[in-house]
Amino acid sequence: MCGIVGYIGREDIKEILLDGLRELEYRGYDSAGVAILEDEEIQSFKAIGKLKNLEEKTKNFSTNGFGLGIGHTRWATHGKPTELNAHPHLGEFSYVVHNGIIENYQELKKKLIQKGYNFLSQTDTEVIVHLFEENYKQENETFKAFEKTVEMLAGAYAILLITKADPNTIYFAKNGSPMIVGNDEKGDIYFGSSDAALIGKASEVIYLSDGDYGYTKEGEIKIFNDKTEKALQKKPLIGDKISAQKDGYRFFMEKEIYEQSEVLGDTIMGRVLDEKIKFDELDENFFEGINQIQFCACGTSYNSALACSYLFERQAKIKSFVEIASEFRYKEPLLSKDTLFVVISQSGETADTLEALKMAKKAGLKTLAICNVDNSSIVRISDYTLLTRAGIEKGVASTKAFATQVMVMWMLALYLAQIRNTMSAEELKAEISTIRHIPKTVIVEDSLHEKIKRLSKRYLHGHGFFFIGRDLFYPLALEGALKLKEISYLHAEGYPAGEMKHGPIALADSELFTIALMPKSVHYDKIKSNVEELSARDATILAISPLEFDLADDFIKTNYSDHPMSEFFEMMVITQLLALEISVRLGNDVDMPRNLAKSVTVE
Ligand code: G6P
Repeated sequence: MCGIVGYIGREDIKEILLDGLRELEYRGYDSAGVAILEDEEIQSFKAIGKLKNLEEKTKNFSTNGFGLGIGHTRWATHGKPTELNAHPHLGEFSYVVHNGIIENYQELKKKLIQKGYNFLSQTDTEVIVHLFEENYKQENETFKAFEKTVEMLAGAYAILLITKADPNTIYFAKNGSPMIVGNDEKGDIYFGSSDAALIGKASEVIYLSDGDYGYTKEGEIKIFNDKTEKALQKKPLIGDKISAQKDGYRFFMEKEIYEQSEVLGDTIMGRVLDEKIKFDELDENFFEGINQIQFCACGTSYNSALACSYLFERQAKIKSFVEIASEFRYKEPLLSKDTLFVVISQSGETADTLEALKMAKKAGLKTLAICNVDNSSIVRISDYTLLTRAGIEKGVASTKAFATQVMVMWMLALYLAQIRNTMSAEELKAEISTIRHIPKTVIVEDSLHEKIKRLSKRYLHGHGFFFIGRDLFYPLALEGALKLKEISYLHAEGYPAGEMKHGPIALADSELFTIALMPKSVHYDKIKSNVEELSARDATILAISPLEFDLADDFIKTNYSDHPMSEFFEMMVITQLLALEISVRLGNDVDMPRNLAKSVTVE
């Protein structure tokens, strides 16, 4: 999730680019940069950290004639958030900005290095600009060279490229990552990753489709797809900036729930090959001598670790323990060096998790972070990091961060299964094919959302909620209850379904709401009996299952899948939407619930 902007015209180019980047900063803010071409000369500025650092660096620069420029705000996926890794990336006479991931960058890079190209950054993006210049050497025509470059790229991208070889033009390409191009009445051209960057500037826009590429000059936009020129389908651009940042959703949390399909695609990109899992960030030797894994985290991140601990034991056949960081710190834990210490954190700044990590390091354990924010304190301290690639999460109640954490840990469990030879090639292939399908599983159908909106009105009162599940679905129940608590302020507990009879069932009456996670693929009969016991005590039951359940007061039917993780992700979305809609009906501030903070940097 990076943001890109572009502009061709006679206004102050730097100001237009910075304005656009300000609107896109929600997509990432590890670093930012611009490249501006005026009078056949390109000037480029980059700064790490928030946009204000770039504003400071460029404060004495301005343009006052015709020119063009491209800009970028970065959310690191390949390479640390340093100035060298910040975009735009330069070749000899061209600059490029890119959002997405070039999956085949390593093989392209290898070939370009053999041809004598010098790489300055660790990014996948840099290959684009060298490849373009190499193709230009062969074709001697900029558009042909750009078209050929795009053809050679695999993966997801929104790209803008400028070159001294054709100083009046911006080249663009889009595949899998968003990009919009627009113009105003004067014929000035604007690019952006979302409407927000263009509102108040462009009067009409084109939402580019996957496979589109082309070029723009002053007053001219040419779009091609599969070597054929396309008719321009312009739409008027209206709206306000905040709602544009929310992409038309009512709340950031809602947007983030809907975004899960896209970000899960980013999470697996380049890591899931046909027959194996690959993490460029890891070194297989790192796992030598490791006999067990200790997971440590807080809040939602703890729930994701707890869910995945089942996978590590089952798939990689490695002992796994999960501990809440604030408990771990003071229990005087016995730590042994054959333990891999894994911390999970969306922000990378949670004080308890950070301190637990420091303790593990001090005890000489190998450490690994699963984190969403590169260069955060936790990432800097850990031996290795796997970034979750969820993009910035604004809603305090975590949704897409949880989904991507689970995905990264599931892939890690399989990666370890490969190293430890605990799975057959067939089993691994089946897992990989399920992983590839997950981004589709979490797409929110209108009918589902509507149903949950309607159902939510029955769940506003009563004396509490129990989310119940077994196995992997117990941590999901914990997470469902946490979501509801956080934004509805109603009392909710997640409980292992089989444990209800050992106490909590005493609470059962018609005012006790039970949200029952009843997957078909995991112990269906067992959980069914647990829910029947509650129903017999008159508890109000909302059953979530692919199988009809007569004793439920309400029922949400899910798709049948024989893989627990498909059912897991589908039920995850349902519990998120349920919490959202109950909170909306209660009139609460969904994105900024009372008493909570997105990142808790105190004990
Ligand atoms: C806070 C947030 C939670 C989050 C927890 C851990 O309490 O409100 O949503 O799960 O911190 O945060 P982390 O950034 O370490 O995942």
